[in-house]
Amino acid sequence: MTGAASAVVGRFEVAQGWPLQGGKYFCRHKYFCRQEQAWRMRQAEGRSAMATVQRQFNPEAKPMLHANTAQGAAPSPVWLWLDPTTRCNLACRLCYTKESHGKLDLDPADLEQALIKLKDSPALEVKTIHLNWRGEPLMNNRFHELLAVTRDIMPDVQLQWHTNGTMLTRKRARQLLEVKHRHKIFVSIDGGNALSHDLNRGEGTFLRTLRGLEILLEEAAGDEHVKVGVYQIDLGEPIESYDPAFLRLLERVDDHVKVTPLLPGGAHHDVASLSDLESDEKLHQRMMQDVNPKLPVPSGACFWAGHVMCLAPDGKVSICIISHGQHGVIGNLFEESAEQVLERGLAFRDRMETQGRCSVGHCKTCRKPVGQVYAKHRLAA
Ligand SMILES: C[S@@+](CC[C@H](N)C(=O)[O-])C[C@H]1O[C@@H](n2cnc3c(N)ncnc32)[C@H](O)[C@@H]1O
Ligand code: SF4
Repeated sequence: MTGAASAVVGRFEVAQGWPLQGGKYFCRHKYFCRQEQAWRMRQAEGRSAMATVQRQFNPEAKPMLHANTAQGAAPSPVWLWLDPTTRCNLACRLCYTKESHGKLDLDPADLEQALIKLKDSPALEVKTIHLNWRGEPLMNNRFHELLAVTRDIMPDVQLQWHTNGTMLTRKRARQLLEVKHRHKIFVSIDGGNALSHDLNRGEGTFLRTLRGLEILLEEAAGDEHVKVGVYQIDLGEPIESYDPAFLRLLERVDDHVKVTPLLPGGAHHDVASLSDLESDEKLHQRMMQDVNPKLPVPSGACFWAGHVMCLAPDGKVSICIISHGQHGVIGNLFEESAEQVLERGLAFRDRMETQGRCSVGHCKTCRKPVGQVYAKHRLAA
């Protein structure tokens, strides 16, 4: 890390490459000193400090989401993505996390410590947990232990996790269901038939995933804790072309979520033709030539920044689920306090809101729509 491209905030060194403007680092020191000062003031004087400091530097700045209310400090709502492993047994064409696949597994003891920090922090409130992020959760043989730890520390927080289903043997399904916890398991099935699913996920995966889903449904039948869903990336296939066995399984699941794909660059956009999935080059070409030029980069902050913590197995926390590399890392929950990590996330968001997305190098080409924390969650916080 070069001196010119890094800054120390608290005990954490912020990644290189904060946005260059006209060849200079734009307000970098002032900005981070402001955050550091706010952090110290908050420690000493309570939660109104950040809002106060923010106004001192920029009287027109909107109050931050976690600024004090008349009744006192409102904890910041946080959506957690916990990565059981960076390993995956597939390499799906559309996967927005595969660039960061690796070889790390999350240790249940590390997870426990991180969750305790988050739970004990008055500065935040965990709203939902995804016990999946970058890899295939079942690649971690201790996944059932991770599930049990999460249940034990945060029993009342809504939890779901997604799997490609290819590793769902009967034995594995039983092991998972032995962890009695009210939550939802989504099996990812794309397109609707073998042709479209396998184009995205690899040859032979459709049948393996259907089998995994069927086993899970059989084992979970009558289980009062677990709900089973299908999470489907819409690849434009008409329902008439759906595989009959898939349709029969859809009738048995508790939930069916069908989403427009998130394409490289953060745009939610239809895949124009299945042939776009034939190679990475074709998909990239389609994005660069047809999709991205018509979709300008929004100027404000996306929903995720500052509201989401994506925890990797080594403790690093990223700003959003499609972030890759050090520039999106806002701290390390194994080494730092939850408040330090939160503060950096909120500062990241603040910068996007006050100076524009284009001023944040990590996000300046991302087309994720502008979004706020949902009103109902803010009220609940
Ligand atoms: C990154 S995967 C990790 C969990 C597991 N390996 C799986 O495939 O379900 C988490 C979820 O993201 C979805 N996903 C991956 N790439 C996507 C994309 N480009 N657009 C929409 N959803 C996507 C997957 O279908 C899956 O439901
Ligand atoms: S199985 Fe899941 S994590 Fe693995 S490449 Fe596919 S979408 Fe990504």
